[in-house]
Amino acid sequence: MTTPADLTAVTEPSPDERQFDDLIAADSRIEPRDWMPDAYRKTLVRQISQHAHSEIIGMQPEANWITRAPSLKRKAILMAKVQDEAGHGLYLYSAAQTLGTPRDEMTEALIAGKARYSSIFNYPTPTWADMGAIGWLVDGAAICNQVPLCRASYGPYGRAMVRICKEESFHQRQGFEILLELMRGTDAQRAMAQDAVDRWYWPALQMFGPPDDASPNSAQSMAWNIKRFSNDELRQRFVSMLVPQAEVLGVTLPDPKLRLDEETGQYEMSEIDWTEFNEVLAGRGPMNAQRLQRRRDAHEDGAWVREAAAEYARKQAAAREVAA
Ligand SMILES: [Fe+2]
Ligand SMILES: [Fe+2]
Repeated sequence: MTTPADLTAVTEPSPDERQFDDLIAADSRIEPRDWMPDAYRKTLVRQISQHAHSEIIGMQPEANWITRAPSLKRKAILMAKVQDEAGHGLYLYSAAQTLGTPRDEMTEALIAGKARYSSIFNYPTPTWADMGAIGWLVDGAAICNQVPLCRASYGPYGRAMVRICKEESFHQRQGFEILLELMRGTDAQRAMAQDAVDRWYWPALQMFGPPDDASPNSAQSMAWNIKRFSNDELRQRFVSMLVPQAEVLGVTLPDPKLRLDEETGQYEMSEIDWTEFNEVLAGRGPMNAQRLQRRRDAHEDGAWVREAAAEYARKQAAAREVAA
């Protein structure tokens, strides 16, 4: 039988737990060497590795246009942008590794189709204007999501996000500029830009995740200072950033109900199609199979590079041993 005294003994926090709670309460950082609850570690590994996978898979829709960019300048910019995304993946895998999960394990989960990545990258990029819409809307949504993560309680994650956010803001500007140039061009170019915005607008809004009342893990992530704003708050922030920029571009955001409520300062908008979101998330989006296959092929094609790097490291270590 359990007496109230036993219960107190069970729920009394250990010195480690107390230290963790104090660090969180003081809005300080948790570092890899610090004790942390298993659930905190698990949540971070899941979030950071999903984020890393998204950066890596996210290279594909744009890499699709590198060989067909309309000028040398555009090609150079697009290559730099796609390369940045690879770098983001690497910082994030490194941050996740500090939590004790090996990189190989994360890669295996991705290519086996067991790990999630942002559903946005399962849409096709049929026209050059998609490069503009992705930069403006997808990288734009990423910035809204990620700027608060620079203050995430887990040190390696927060620090990785600082650099990532600087690069994301270049990505958004280059997308905006592609659209601006198209909107100042011919009727056909304007129509192409508008069509791309129409296709990417709703998936970009879905990037913030389900509405707050259907997002059960958010409260815990906020209590741990990983997440700082709710999904709906971030979505509002994103739309309020887009509206004036859409005006400058001369594009229409494809939501007839979009309207600023002067009293609340909030944007009213149409219902988001969560059935579509869930379908894409479940692997049934237009490009899921192709994206995973491409990643699998790249992994296999890269086997010799990994082997050569491991062999080089082995030889260097052996040489150091001889020298010592
Ligand atoms: Fe990125
Ligand atoms: Fe980006």
